[in-house]
Amino acid sequence: MKLDLLGDRQRTHYCGELRKCHAGQTVFLAGWVHRRRDLGNLIFLDLRDHTGVAQVVCRPEVNAAAHDKAEQVRSEYVVGVQGEVVERSKETVNPEIATGEVEVVAREILLLNEARTPPFPIEDETRTAEETRLRYRYLDLRRGRMQHHLRLRHRASLTVREHMSEHGFVEIETPFLTRSTPEGARDYLVPSRVQHGRFYALPQSPQLFKQILMIAGFDRYFQIVRCFRDEDLRADRQPEFTQVDVEMAFPERDVLFDIIERLMEKLFALVDVKVERPFVRLPYDRAMELYGSDKPHTGFGLEWKRVNLPPGADEKVHVAQPLKALRVPGEGGASRSQLDKLQETAKSAGAEWFSYIKVGNPDVQSPLAKVVGEEPMRSLAESLEALRGDLVVLLGMKSKNTGPGPLARLDNASGEVRLELARKLNLIEAGQWNFLWVVDFPMFEYNDKEARYQPMHHPFTSPREEDFDKLESDPGALRARAYDLVLNGSEIGGGSIRIHSSDIQQRVFRVLGLTPEKARERFGFFLDALEYGTPPHGGIALGFDRIVALMARESNIREVIAFPKTASAIDLMCDAPSTVEAEQLNELGLEIEKQ
Ligand code: AMO
Repeated sequence: MKLDLLGDRQRTHYCGELRKCHAGQTVFLAGWVHRRRDLGNLIFLDLRDHTGVAQVVCRPEVNAAAHDKAEQVRSEYVVGVQGEVVERSKETVNPEIATGEVEVVAREILLLNEARTPPFPIEDETRTAEETRLRYRYLDLRRGRMQHHLRLRHRASLTVREHMSEHGFVEIETPFLTRSTPEGARDYLVPSRVQHGRFYALPQSPQLFKQILMIAGFDRYFQIVRCFRDEDLRADRQPEFTQVDVEMAFPERDVLFDIIERLMEKLFALVDVKVERPFVRLPYDRAMELYGSDKPHTGFGLEWKRVNLPPGADEKVHVAQPLKALRVPGEGGASRSQLDKLQETAKSAGAEWFSYIKVGNPDVQSPLAKVVGEEPMRSLAESLEALRGDLVVLLGMKSKNTGPGPLARLDNASGEVRLELARKLNLIEAGQWNFLWVVDFPMFEYNDKEARYQPMHHPFTSPREEDFDKLESDPGALRARAYDLVLNGSEIGGGSIRIHSSDIQQRVFRVLGLTPEKARERFGFFLDALEYGTPPHGGIALGFDRIVALMARESNIREVIAFPKTASAIDLMCDAPSTVEAEQLNELGLEIEKQ
């Protein structure tokens, strides 16, 4: 097929812009053929660009050459159209599209390129398998929905830059080829050719660089920055993702919270959501008790309570005190299989013991009643203000040891059960925006398997000053000056006030099991920097992909990332990761072991 040249022809309008007021004007549009309808002497082309679709009419009596060209084009061909905008007759107005009152009568059609038949139609709503969409991402991104999301993302990043600059924050780029920064995931390593046997690590976050910028006197820093983490992927996790990274010297937590809350207000205004400020602040312990999660969705009730069975009853039914109890309004009629399913969820999430009370009037029904009597069950239900027709779910652990491990598993199970109930009862309403700060995190969590403490956030988080003296004697009891920002049950940010004393930093490393030699080997440069006049400082990093996904009302961050990876960390379009030439490996001094 012979193609036309664009020459010096300039687009005069975007397709989606045309309205009645343009009638009578000669326009030049350029875009992709969305659809073609051939009625013989009349051919309609729906021409599409990122703004929408315009109907082009080709009649041989207006221009025979244009009509001939229109006969040849197919979906996704690239064409330029010159013609006159005319009002459509009343019967042919299409109220479904913004340009539906007009059409363009073609005087000239330029055939700028052909296209193979696309593997799926370019439409907003699609049932195409995600794998196919990712493989042909350039076609997927032509869809109006993806165009909208990525343009929204662009406006969101402008908003971030404007807001942070207004508050005196300076954007500074930090390196990608660097050393490991521990954020709890594995590093992506890059072998060095010139430094034989050595590796760079791609940053899991710019944590140490931003702290060093505070030492360097930059006072207020931010960066919209890519981070890299080799971890198990989920709907809200990608191996490379974007943070809005923020740090300030001489920090006031309230000042930082206010800056971030106002940023959220501006971001969500882009999608016409009014954000209520200030955000609720919930201590970590309360979050775990009430919702069994450190990122609770607080947009619906269902709050757990720690309860005790009467003395002796716990032993009869083989459960350790305290238990957790949840009143589920109106679910007293839950069937055996529904309860079995809840029990399964609870147990697979770590609970060792499950029971329930169905509240009737005056009777209560519970498998426990046979063993410990009805009365204690009734008074337990009453203490939860359960009404007739309600269900009370009870979770517990069997072991007497109610230390941090089992309690954490019980809390975790209670969180999963709560979410399952919320989904089943359709309690999670769209259009609610529950922002929440979770504060007062523990400094360390105990890793049962490895029998050691690990940081709840990262090792640069400061403990509360009043807890400094408990650092070695009771690390489990230490509270950190850390906080997370949560929206509708999704963790959209995390940060802390940092350690700014080299001495405390070294003590924290020691609690984490790093010998002074190891600490020096990994973080010597940072420990040195801390000794040259480090101001108190703190900050936060926001998960930009997660925020944009929530703004776009998408449940998977892949929908707001141009070229994301699959759940197995593969880029299906360019087939990365890939094998490399033996010569490249040689140069790097690497050898691949056969598996
Ligand atoms: P954190 O590890 O909590 O903190 O990360 C900050 C925020 O980044 C988002 N996030 C992710 N988004 C997509 N894919 C991922 N794999 C992923 N991992 C994290 C989350 C999270 O809340 N340096 C600290 C911040 C600080 O202390 O200032 C840090 O990186 O929304």
